[in-house]
Amino acid sequence: MTERRRGYFITFEGLDGSGKSTQMRLFAQRLRAAGHTVVETAEPGGTRIGGAIRSILLNPKNQDLSPTAEMLLYFAARAQNVDELLLPALGRGEIVLSDRWTDSTYAYQGHGRQLGTGVVVALDRVACRGHNPDLTIWVDIDLDAGLERARARNNETGATSESRMDEQEFEFYARVREGYLELERLHPGRLRRVDGSGTPDQVAERVWSAWRGFADSHV
Ligand code: TYD
Repeated sequence: MTERRRGYFITFEGLDGSGKSTQMRLFAQRLRAAGHTVVETAEPGGTRIGGAIRSILLNPKNQDLSPTAEMLLYFAARAQNVDELLLPALGRGEIVLSDRWTDSTYAYQGHGRQLGTGVVVALDRVACRGHNPDLTIWVDIDLDAGLERARARNNETGATSESRMDEQEFEFYARVREGYLELERLHPGRLRRVDGSGTPDQVAERVWSAWRGFADSHV
């Protein structure tokens, strides 16, 4: 990597159960082995205050959280992350990896909850102030496979007693995936779709070649 003052900001995106978190971990290991300094973060969360916001968002008792309030909380956590973690790390020339970022809000709240994407883009300008990812790895999986994996994980952890995927849930995730497809059309240079099927090692190879493709033209 040639000398550059600012580091790189790379995000991982995908449906629940896509395996993106595992892939981000494997990618971080490989970058470190190649000599890079890597900071890992996640949304919602990533900072102490973001963690407190995450617990409001993911608390099953908060079923009455309004969709707009939910969206603003995702951005509140992200704004804190920008100031506390992202900008300082980029300033040190490090590579920041985030498990989800604004593309998740675009896909889940903008498309999934049908709040519209214009408002997501506007709020991103307020919360992130133009500090957008340099590269986004979208780990794409087939809808059924993803929901199957997410359900199996919930059953293992006992996170939810209701594991039956109803039609409404399927339609929600279908809209979320549409959101990611739209982002791919809008940002073909930034967003690289990686096939999430196969073993974690197979997917990791695809992630690495997406990074190499980016690095060859940018780094
Ligand atoms: P995450 O912690 O990444 O869980 P998983 O590994 O299961 O994907 O995300 C938790 C949930 O939050 C997930 O269902 C996606 C959702 N989410 C949004 O709806 N909007 C957002 O902006 C973000 C960051 C996450």
